[in-house]
Amino acid sequence: MLDAYREILYNGTMESLLDKLRQYSDSGALAMHMPGHKRNTEDFAWLAPLGARFDITEIDGFDNLNDPQELFARLEERAARLWGAKQSICLVNGSTAGVLAAIRAAVPSGGEILLARNSHKSVYHAAELADAKPHYLLPSADPQTGIFGSVSAAEVAQALDAHPNVRLVAVTSPTYEGVISDVRRIADVCHARGALLFVDEAHGAHLGFGGFPESAVRCGADLVVQSLHKTLPSLTQTAILHVNGERIDPARVRRNTVIFQSSSPSYLLSASIDGCVNYLERQGTAAAERWLAARAEFDRAAESLAHLCIWQGGQTVFAQDPSKIVVFCADADLTGRELAGIFREQFRIEVEMAHECYVVAMTGMGDTAQSLRRFADAVCAIDRTCRKGGLPRPVQPFVLPEKRLSVGEALASPGAFCPLAEAVGQVSGEYVWAYPPGIPVLVPGEVIGEGMLGEAEKLHSDRGQLPKRIFCVGNA
Ligand SMILES: Cc1ncc(COP(=O)(O)O)c(C=O)c1O
Repeated sequence: MLDAYREILYNGTMESLLDKLRQYSDSGALAMHMPGHKRNTEDFAWLAPLGARFDITEIDGFDNLNDPQELFARLEERAARLWGAKQSICLVNGSTAGVLAAIRAAVPSGGEILLARNSHKSVYHAAELADAKPHYLLPSADPQTGIFGSVSAAEVAQALDAHPNVRLVAVTSPTYEGVISDVRRIADVCHARGALLFVDEAHGAHLGFGGFPESAVRCGADLVVQSLHKTLPSLTQTAILHVNGERIDPARVRRNTVIFQSSSPSYLLSASIDGCVNYLERQGTAAAERWLAARAEFDRAAESLAHLCIWQGGQTVFAQDPSKIVVFCADADLTGRELAGIFREQFRIEVEMAHECYVVAMTGMGDTAQSLRRFADAVCAIDRTCRKGGLPRPVQPFVLPEKRLSVGEALASPGAFCPLAEAVGQVSGEYVWAYPPGIPVLVPGEVIGEGMLGEAEKLHSDRGQLPKRIFCVGNA
């Protein structure tokens, strides 16, 4: 009996982490360790469907995600092979933890960084924590939809020449709307100027599988974070941080992931990562091909659209990620938010995001030909009921606000809340996240501009709408 128990704890060849957890759970071992539910799903019935019987802590034989030696070391080696990284670090606190760790590891305190302005809020928070001095790159936007285009290598070169002390460049590729940048050329530009490249590929963990465009990991980026949960078969919060090349010490990155991860990393989430890697190793290519075939079928159905259209990127876009479907209310008498409402109320379809003139529908490896056919049928049915609306007026281009104070100075300054209408010309003491998914219109220390508020009001913020008051610096 004891031998069988030891076999469960120390057998390194077991099929999956979930198998190992299942066997431990079935072994009759008395858990005199965390978590406090003790796998007692009789008294705590709601925990049974949540998988409590597999929810353990870092007991002997089950390694430690934050200090991988055995089981997790093998998992990370497999992940690195799969995506083509020098080293991969599994994360259970989302890409958010990876972004914070990567930027803190790569930028010395007070160092200069170059950020694409359409970066996710976690990138701004990382810069804030590293006390970094950001310079911004503003990618050009598609004039009809306002969707930010790709970051170009030429823009990065120009910005790095203007700010030669920058040590890290951070870009998002693909973006929320599926816009991909030419990471290979951007990496060359960065490396030629002594800067590291971090790519937020939270939306692109599937890139490189089957016929999907290449991942930034294989295009020379030094640090790449991917949310497994956004597009692949894995539970929410699972992510992976790839450390590439010779320019940054993986141990330094790991030290930082430990800072930003829970010291009790969930075994349920870890088992999900293990299962996802397992699946991708065996069937990733075939699954990606099925997914792309379903998308191609969707596109064929969408060819008949008369008023709505599927956004094709245009001149500002280097490449598009086919996992995203942006339905543009091109010539329809509908706003994007109305369109999202029709999907919800008439078709029981929930899209990822609604904007003034488009919606973003996310597909994932879990989609099937059938699910995308259902979505295509809904898009075509709505299109048939639309009337000609006249093209939406071009979206006002986002203009970088004037910067008066650094983020750190602004956050440390006294101030007061001010009604939005009276805030023009004042210095913001807070972030205003008005571009989904959490891209700031205003960063602390920036001057609140006239046109900005009108435009921003039409956009989503992560609070559902733009706040009515804004904290302004020096207004106490
Ligand atoms: C571009 C981008 N980066 C990073 C993140 C953070 O990812 P996670 O939710 O896995 O922490 C998000 C989340 O939406 C995102 O859209």
